[in-house]
Amino acid sequence: MVNINEHSITQAVLDRLDNCDNPRLKTVMTSLIRHLHDFAREVQLSEEEWMTGIQFLTATGHMCDDKRQEFILLSDTLGLSMLTVAMQNAKPPGATEATVFGPFHIDHPPQYKDGEDISNGASGEPLFVTARILNTEGKPVPAARVNIWQADADGLYDVQRPDLQTNQARGILHSDEQGRIAFQTVLPVSYPVPTDGPVGHMLLATGRHPWRPAHVHFKIDAPGYQSLITHVFRDDDAYLHSDVVFGVRSSLLGKYIKHEAGDTPDGQTLKTPFYTLNYDFVLAAEGVA
Ligand code: BEZ
Ligand code: FE
Repeated sequence: MVNINEHSITQAVLDRLDNCDNPRLKTVMTSLIRHLHDFAREVQLSEEEWMTGIQFLTATGHMCDDKRQEFILLSDTLGLSMLTVAMQNAKPPGATEATVFGPFHIDHPPQYKDGEDISNGASGEPLFVTARILNTEGKPVPAARVNIWQADADGLYDVQRPDLQTNQARGILHSDEQGRIAFQTVLPVSYPVPTDGPVGHMLLATGRHPWRPAHVHFKIDAPGYQSLITHVFRDDDAYLHSDVVFGVRSSLLGKYIKHEAGDTPDGQTLKTPFYTLNYDFVLAAEGVA
């Protein structure tokens, strides 16, 4: 085909997929090409603008390595991560909702026993967490693997501190026969997503702030149940309604209760104020939507 114009080019590109023998790939590529072309036509994209776009994507790729994933951040801040989470994580009534994974998860952090302090020296006010892992019938789920991670009082994850040789404010616990876990950590605070790369420039250029409301991340796995990736947010955070990655669900708000100095739930006596959080997670059985 010759003399392709701005209208006929879309079909010409789609015709080249005729020999694609992977049906799903063909579906995804067909839609992607259609929407990309429609986008360019709709905004009447100039060559200069598209070169700026290519430079932006190139800079995003250059900012990716085993510690930093700028493409995940781009997907998160454009709402694409939360869109896929919302579409693919329909849960039965009563099950805890999922939210974004984020880039700071580690699959094999240190393991802790019931009641231990996972902060491992992270800065922040003491927080004592108790939680239950239940199923949708309200029965406890024992031996669930609960992977926990969060930022410290400076709003930084341990993996964002290149000089730190150890894990802080993250760890794995297993639920007991009553489905319970308990641990000590530090109070999470709201924090900005990394802004020193192209995504930060995009947020600034489009008049957006980079903040996430304070939260603790949980990934919960138990045989016979769907894996749950979620957060528990502080219900008093100023950024709940403007989370830069659109991850807040009202069902995921937790009460982080402040206590004056004195006796803690695990029998310590502290000279400074501390916080407690109690939250129940409800897992959906495998194969149930
Ligand atoms: C996080 O909550 O850790 C996170 C999520 C999305 C982008 C950046 C950070
Ligand atoms: Fe986070």
